[in-house]
Amino acid sequence: MRPLDIGGGAHATHIRKATLADLPALERVDALALSAQDRFERTALRRLLRSKTDIVIVAVHDGAIAGFAAVSRNSRDCWLKGLAVLPRCRRMGIGRQLVMSVLRRTEREDRAIKLAVRADNIAAQLLYDGLGFTACGVRERYYPDGAAGLMFVAGASVPQAGNGRQ
Ligand SMILES: CC(C)(COP(=O)(O)OP(=O)(O)OC[C@H]1O[C@@H](n2cnc3c(N)ncnc32)[C@H](O)[C@@H]1OP(=O)(O)O)[C@@H](O)C(=O)NCCC(=O)NCCS
Repeated sequence: MRPLDIGGGAHATHIRKATLADLPALERVDALALSAQDRFERTALRRLLRSKTDIVIVAVHDGAIAGFAAVSRNSRDCWLKGLAVLPRCRRMGIGRQLVMSVLRRTEREDRAIKLAVRADNIAAQLLYDGLGFTACGVRERYYPDGAAGLMFVAGASVPQAGNGRQ
């Protein structure tokens, strides 16, 4: 993936594909950005990084990884499995740039991108809504802690409702 520059000078940010060497930095972002029930296991992150079909992209800000997005892919569509930005780097457009990069990739592949977000995660819902995602269902008790999940989809090639759990 070609790096995407979204800033200049002292606060330049770019998006690139993650490698296995990024695992410690990804674990750090995971631990600082996500609540305990939403964190990835180290083995899950490593599996994503090693996968030939799934993709992890990172946002590098001021020379350090400030956020990541993880996407799993099958023959029909893609799932945004994780999105996280370090608390100190939020509201700078990094989350938006990560999701835009995912969207560009899935558009190129003519695939839909789906995701689930906690019903009380308004910040993430506003982010997805602003990038053209459509809310397409609610799954009660979607998360292991019993929280409901809102399903979102973007891209043309799947129905806009009735998406199952990934
Ligand atoms: C959700 C998250 C990824 C957003 O990252 P971010 O880099 O701060 O987001 P951006 O700066 O790109 O914001 C893009 C848009 O999202 C919305 N948004 C983001 N954070 C918001 C907040 N705290 N309150 C309200 N809207 C918010 C806004 O519409 C914002 O656009 P604006 O700044 O022009 O108003 C980040 O808050 C995070 O890591 N949260 C914890 C993990 C998480 O919830 N992941 C999503 C799981 S589905």
